[in-house]
Amino acid sequence: MRCLTCTYSLLLALAVVGSAWGAEGKPNSGIKRSTFGKMADGKPIELFTLTNSQGMRVAIANYGGVVVSIVVPDREGKPGDVVLGFDNLEGYLAKQPYFGALIGRYGNRIGNARFKLDGVEYKLPANNSPNSLHGGTQGFDKRVWTAHEIPGPHPGLQLTYLSPDGEEGYPGNLHVKVVYSLTEDNALRIEYTATTDKDTVVNLTNHSYFNLAGEGNGDILKHEVMINADRFTPIDSTLIPTGELRKVDGTPFDFRKPTPLGTRIDADNEQIKFGKGYDHNFVLNRTGPGLSLAARVTDPVSGRVLEVFTTQPGIQLYTGNFLDGSIRGKGGKVYPRRSAFCLETQHFPDSPNKPSFPSTELKPGETYRETTDYRFSVSK
Ligand code: GLA
Repeated sequence: MRCLTCTYSLLLALAVVGSAWGAEGKPNSGIKRSTFGKMADGKPIELFTLTNSQGMRVAIANYGGVVVSIVVPDREGKPGDVVLGFDNLEGYLAKQPYFGALIGRYGNRIGNARFKLDGVEYKLPANNSPNSLHGGTQGFDKRVWTAHEIPGPHPGLQLTYLSPDGEEGYPGNLHVKVVYSLTEDNALRIEYTATTDKDTVVNLTNHSYFNLAGEGNGDILKHEVMINADRFTPIDSTLIPTGELRKVDGTPFDFRKPTPLGTRIDADNEQIKFGKGYDHNFVLNRTGPGLSLAARVTDPVSGRVLEVFTTQPGIQLYTGNFLDGSIRGKGGKVYPRRSAFCLETQHFPDSPNKPSFPSTELKPGETYRETTDYRFSVSK
């Protein structure tokens, strides 16, 4: 006679395995929802975990559209979380430097916290004196977004937010839609769209802090970086572009060949001094519209590789120069200076005041559309 308990145990085991793994022994792709915390007014915040059939996992909160974790394997197949952040909502609500967040209405700085559009001057919060940084004091990183799951073979999460006319000083009701999805080749794809009912300026990005060795696992100075840019936009002492597009040749900004981040990060160079390391926008070499390779970063120890593809004209390399170990992140880990790097795809900082830069203006009837892929793999 058959052992009933054994059959039952076997069925149970199959059910448990079957819920996480597909028929070919691959993990099932999908979306899982869980509670992340509550806003001060009681609004619940959720965490959406997207998994692809390769086992890559990305968790996103509808507060700030924050990418809370990105779990990808290293060379040995060992999974690790490669972005800085917190275990719960409280961490994100406290003062912190935009970990993983969606940035808007204008990513990076607008000089002297003002710009003119159609002859009208708009004043913005000078939250990075004398400039306005990352959309002002209550940017898109501090808003609750409306979330919709997108099921299917490429699990996705749609986040929408209506930024009302005059919010943080910007004109026009701006309808913003951001879709995060996971591709089968291990990319986190971010698609941004926006429409307005008045002329305005828009520059959306994501502010993930990467450490390919795993968050909380030392500094990023040995990470090797390639940036597909012949020119960068030099800055003044307040980190506002001067308007020049300067050749990278012979400067610490020449990343056309893979170079460890630490090699020239403290070079005797005025631009490096202004940024306290790297905090600069690169002018991407583009051959036409569509997604093109902007940067590739390799961690020689873990073997993890991050490639950034984008439709945007620029990318900000920021090497966590303002991190100082005062923040306790996931699992109580400390994040010291330069323990992460950011590659923020974007239009150039201060474009609204720089007519020679690609325009960031959006008019009624037009649709702002940009896409960025963060693709992960491993090197031998
Ligand atoms: C961007 C800026 C940096 C810094 C960080 C957040 O990358 O360019 O100067 O403000 O955001 O700390």
